[in-house]
Amino acid sequence: EKGGYDHFMLKEIYEQPKSIGDTLRGRLLPEQGLIQMDGVYQFQEKLLNAQRIIIIGCGTSWHAGLVAEYIFEELARIPVEVEYASEFRYRNPVITERDVVIAISQSGETADTLAAIKLAKERGATIFGICNVVGSSIARETHAGAYTHAGPEIGVASTKAFTAQVAVLNLIAIKLAHKKGLLKESYYHRLLNELNEIPRKIEDMLKSDAQSRYIAELYKDAPNFLYLGRGYNFPVALEGALKLKEISYIHAEGYPAAEMKHGPIALIDENMPVVVIAPKSGQYDKIVSNIQEVKAREGKVIAIVNDGDSEIAKMADHVIEVKDTMEVFSPLLTTIPLQLLSYHIAVMRGCNVDQPRNLAKSVTVE
Ligand code: F6R
Repeated sequence: EKGGYDHFMLKEIYEQPKSIGDTLRGRLLPEQGLIQMDGVYQFQEKLLNAQRIIIIGCGTSWHAGLVAEYIFEELARIPVEVEYASEFRYRNPVITERDVVIAISQSGETADTLAAIKLAKERGATIFGICNVVGSSIARETHAGAYTHAGPEIGVASTKAFTAQVAVLNLIAIKLAHKKGLLKESYYHRLLNELNEIPRKIEDMLKSDAQSRYIAELYKDAPNFLYLGRGYNFPVALEGALKLKEISYIHAEGYPAAEMKHGPIALIDENMPVVVIAPKSGQYDKIVSNIQEVKAREGKVIAIVNDGDSEIAKMADHVIEVKDTMEVFSPLLTTIPLQLLSYHIAVMRGCNVDQPRNLAKSVTVE
């Protein structure tokens, strides 16, 4: 049932071209210039008129929400707040009928997320769910929603569910932005065509994981890791760090790259591996300076860069290449090598990758 892979996690990482394809199938129609989503259609007016979108989730699903904050604000110009469901539900949040709450959950059973939904519902908000498990409690509790269709995720560490969540959130944001008349037609079509290319690009990237395996071998005994990213790739840094912590039990922290100088830079010495997510799109020059800051303190830089980036290759200790894409889709690609890196490190450390200690696939306790 692992389809020839050693672990479910690896199988699920490699499934991503297919799972994202399944997420997009029947919804993204680039030839017709359309995005079709029943759940969005049903609540289109609410979504278009939302004064604010509040995204709630836990763990990796919260990271997908953070990516969505960048996407929604950039494309659809709707203010977004992203909250841990556990904090939201206990702090007497200000919610009105013009707020739309998007709840993200792979399992659809996370207790804190479910409780947060109930609270927001009582206060009159419209709740839109993004779940992977069909018919789950959260899917049933929400007013409308969109399934991620990533297929069953067995590995405790979330991989394909995350990219599917980000893909669905992209679809929704592009759809709303287009309906609001905020996108030039040519740009809209570019977005549709490029999103459609993502599964193929991931497939290409997955043809070899030799580089992440090689880097894993070198750094598997490091006690700490830092992950840095900016903009759309700041949440990817958080997700990369979480993946490493969960399955390899190495302490890791994700930071917005610019925050490094406000504290974590004190940690950097020749023993600190720093994973920097640095694709060409986005604030490239700024991230190049961040890499220089790390190198000036002899930190070991593992940079995630676009194919053929020679500038960063000169500075970094190692690079892992990803395909080029539009900035809004960047997390869908940059996440992949981070999943592989943590997977290989965990395997080399002899950890139980699919069932890490102390963790459960769905957290139904508060
Ligand atoms: C990380 C992970 C957890 C979950 C979190 C939320 O790999 O699996 O952090 O993302 O427990 O779970 P769902 O999405 O099922 O609500």
